[in-house]
Amino acid sequence: MGGHHGASPLFVILGGTGDLSRRKLFPALSSLMRQGLIDENSLLLGVARDTEHDDESFRALIGEALLSRGLSPDDVGRWCEACLRYQTIGKGAAEDFRALASRIKALEREHQLSGNRVLYLALPPGAYPGTITGLGEAGLNRSPGWTRLVIEKPFGSDLTSARDLHQLVHSYFEESDIYRLDHYLGKETVQNLLVFRFSNPIFESLWNRDRVQSIQITVAEELGIEQRASYYEQAGAIRDMVQNHLTQLVTLVGMEVPSTFSAAAVRYEKTKVLRSIAPVLSHDVVFGQYARGTINGREVPGYLEEPGVAPDSRTETFVAMKLEVDTWRWQGVPFYIRTGKRFPQRLTQIAITFRRPPVYMFDSLGFCPITSNVLLLSLQPDEGFSLFFDVKKPGEPFTVETVPLTFRYGETFGSLPDAYETLLLDVLTGDQTLFVHADEVEGSWQIYTPIIEKGLEVHPYQAGTWGPEAADQLLYQHGHTWHTR
Ligand code: BG6
Repeated sequence: MGGHHGASPLFVILGGTGDLSRRKLFPALSSLMRQGLIDENSLLLGVARDTEHDDESFRALIGEALLSRGLSPDDVGRWCEACLRYQTIGKGAAEDFRALASRIKALEREHQLSGNRVLYLALPPGAYPGTITGLGEAGLNRSPGWTRLVIEKPFGSDLTSARDLHQLVHSYFEESDIYRLDHYLGKETVQNLLVFRFSNPIFESLWNRDRVQSIQITVAEELGIEQRASYYEQAGAIRDMVQNHLTQLVTLVGMEVPSTFSAAAVRYEKTKVLRSIAPVLSHDVVFGQYARGTINGREVPGYLEEPGVAPDSRTETFVAMKLEVDTWRWQGVPFYIRTGKRFPQRLTQIAITFRRPPVYMFDSLGFCPITSNVLLLSLQPDEGFSLFFDVKKPGEPFTVETVPLTFRYGETFGSLPDAYETLLLDVLTGDQTLFVHADEVEGSWQIYTPIIEKGLEVHPYQAGTWGPEAADQLLYQHGHTWHTR
């Protein structure tokens, strides 16, 4: 890759001292600058409520996060000194935002920056409305160059709040300047879904109800809720994972061929999928919550024992669901989606199960189970894919065995870029293809808001298992099973 993008922009990271900033954003930005992909004269202004921090202490905080990523102390020190600044937003009053605006202008003057600005909201969702209003009222929705607003998921907590949030954001910013970030879209393996489908006609011709029996999407995590009870108690798995990450995967698997590889065409096709999903019935949804259990020989507490969780909490840490995409391509093909915390292992995969032979000639042998061809797209951690097919096992007696044809990214390409690096560069180049349009957000809430409002039963499952029994039943009743149990 050659050349950097967006002449010396200013990154304003609201929530600059938070977990996301320390773990993901600053490491990604520093890496892009070291690679020369972001102009070395760019500045990063961390903004947070803390009135105690100043440029120095902020650099120390971020420096520590970068050191734990194996960079040398000298390099980190130099980079922090050159690039990082801090500004408090205090209690977020109008004058605090005006002070922020003055600081931004002063920095741009002093460092002869281009006037291009990225305003990045790395904030808890409750802080979005106040911050967007504060920025807009202080005139920070305009700049001498371009201004791009990056908003991290979750975008609202149901259809009404998402609409309100969109309306508020649109009162200050154009949709073309709004980058709603779902980091799953920045993952190489997720982007590859487009190439896999639309650059390989052999698969595309099989990608429909005539050939496919069912589709499964699993996003399994070994982690619990870490120290995020205050957020997670409000969110639960349906808001934290299903409404955004899993639904994005559903759209990429289910969409029609876009007319061009452009943000408008891709996002339009994704939105069409969401609008075609039938209302989800209660008996097609299973909620679960992890109880104490063992993962890799280590005992882990149950959700109700996590610090900050209400003792009688009914927040779901697991969701399994059957979706029906009512299009000519997919009608009748179930899309089973599943996500949960405290599974036995971290695993994100999409399994496309093809139809069985209409008549099975090897039945006569009596000992051959009828299998289906399965295409397993492994999104993480062992990135790649496998196509399972049957072969005759050499020798006697006559036996059919299922074997995989496998591709692994690691073997062919080595390590994969970080999703945040990819997406931050796209913000700088002004490419919205991998960002979520307001219509997608609303389309997705339209599906899940009724489910959230139903107050479904929450089934306990032991940590270290693949979720509650009821999730297995969800598939058994249609003659299917989860690919990893
Ligand atoms: C985040 C969720 O969006 O995605 C977390 O808030 C979750 O709860 C994380 O752990 C999973 O991301 P990844 O990239 O590790 O699959």
